[in-house]
Amino acid sequence: MTTFFTNNIIHIKNLSKDEFESLYEFSQILNSATKQELLIEDAIDIVINVINAERGLFVKYDEINDSFSIITARKISNESITDLHEFSSGILRKVIKEKKPLLYHDVMSDPHLSQFESVQIQRIKSVIGVPIIRDEKIWGVIVADSQLDRREFTEENLLFLSFFSNLVSLALERIIKLEELEKENQILINRLQSYFEIPDMIGNSTVMHNLSQILYKVALTDATVLITGESGTGKEIAAKAIHELSKRKDKPFLAQFCGSIPDNLLESELFGYKKGAFTGANTDKQGLLEAAEGGTFFLDEIADISTALQAKLLRVLENREIIRLGDVKVRKINVRIITATNKDLQTLVKEGAFREDLFYRLNVFPIRIPPLRERRTDIPLLASHFIKKMGKKDMAIDSAAIKKLESYYWPGNIRQLINVIHRALILCEGNKLLAEHIILEDAAVTENFQGTLQEFEMLLLKKRLEELNGNRTLTAKSLDVSVRWIQLKLKEMGEK
Ligand SMILES: Nc1ncnc2c1ncn2[C@@H]1O[C@H](COP(=O)(O)OP(=O)(O)OP(=O)(O)O)[C@@H](O)[C@H]1O
Ligand SMILES: [Mg+2]
Repeated sequence: MTTFFTNNIIHIKNLSKDEFESLYEFSQILNSATKQELLIEDAIDIVINVINAERGLFVKYDEINDSFSIITARKISNESITDLHEFSSGILRKVIKEKKPLLYHDVMSDPHLSQFESVQIQRIKSVIGVPIIRDEKIWGVIVADSQLDRREFTEENLLFLSFFSNLVSLALERIIKLEELEKENQILINRLQSYFEIPDMIGNSTVMHNLSQILYKVALTDATVLITGESGTGKEIAAKAIHELSKRKDKPFLAQFCGSIPDNLLESELFGYKKGAFTGANTDKQGLLEAAEGGTFFLDEIADISTALQAKLLRVLENREIIRLGDVKVRKINVRIITATNKDLQTLVKEGAFREDLFYRLNVFPIRIPPLRERRTDIPLLASHFIKKMGKKDMAIDSAAIKKLESYYWPGNIRQLINVIHRALILCEGNKLLAEHIILEDAAVTENFQGTLQEFEMLLLKKRLEELNGNRTLTAKSLDVSVRWIQLKLKEMGEK
């Protein structure tokens, strides 16, 4: 470049104002191109216009095989350029050899060029070749020709074409670098996404990508995890994923549902018992916490355990020790604890229903599973996943049906979606799920409702509360009202 400028600085001064302005304009056009093809197309157009040529094309040069291939053509139909003999291949050779723009008038009488068939057939009078250089090698040549003698384009104007050729070469360099970066970026993003993929967890939304990244990270540690999220969001799947991704994966993953189980039964399940500890305890029995040795133990619906069990669990978390029911022997355990709840534990702590010290022991690493309505973009993917999983591989889904699924509120989240799809598949007789096959609960309420607005408000509130296990905070969020509003409404209904 330096030599080019030092050699030509004198000529630059001689460029006319018009030429300068054109160069400036071209540099802007060329620099705005973001794809190789677009750059080449722009460049050919400029050359054609500058010399008033009738046709132009870009020929890529393969130095290793010393061969040409036509990439783009302008002002000629594609079929007419399949064969390069049609064109002035003589000038291509010369441009490649001299690595600079060349211009010929009166081609027919030039003995070096007129021998080419193309010149004879096409009766070409003027021809121009502009090299595009990359890494100091010829990357390609722009050729434009005319059956008229274009003498208005003089030898002096070749300098202009040299500048032009350099501009195109620079722009090309930039585009190729950009394309390489884009490709690299794509590969990296792809690698990152597949690296953080969790097989059973379908979802391509940003929230799900973030979630799987967190699951991967926490799986590398032994930290106690508290998974929160509405009913049916995939808390259990997340707990399993942490285990599967951890170094404990070859050891057991055991789970215990803690909701609505009599206290003593839950306790004997978790801790085991000594023979004679209670009526029916005929042998010593190992509890699940012991059985999970080396692995992961998942306590589901942790908010539901009694105060007595909360105290015992606290001991497990503090000392990693258990005592079987009716026993005195203390047993060490090596188990990672994961718990889950769809209740707001912090509120329960404030209300005195859950031990604060236990809450902090459990909440070492909290993970919130987002409700389905916060990842609606995953709905089409999830829907077709479940359709396939239910054995209907060839079942299509209508866009109106997808729209209906996407705009629903999903209080029961993924589990509810599974049920809705299941029902739709039963109703559907053809091979395409339609909107009419998608039966959504709230919608069914509205469709058949005959009462007043106030009655409807109450109906919806009751229904939502039911769906969210009576959780007022979640219900308030889902209806976009305050908890206070819900309390007032319930009072109006005569409930506390
Ligand atoms: N991202 C997902 N991709 C595919 N299936 C999912 C996904 N999330 C959840 N599921 C499925 O949805 C159902 C509910 O998931 P899961 O039991 O883990 O939810 P949960 O939060 O534990 O629900 P609950 O609060 O009712 O116990 C399961 O059948 C599970 O396989
Ligand atoms: Mg669950």
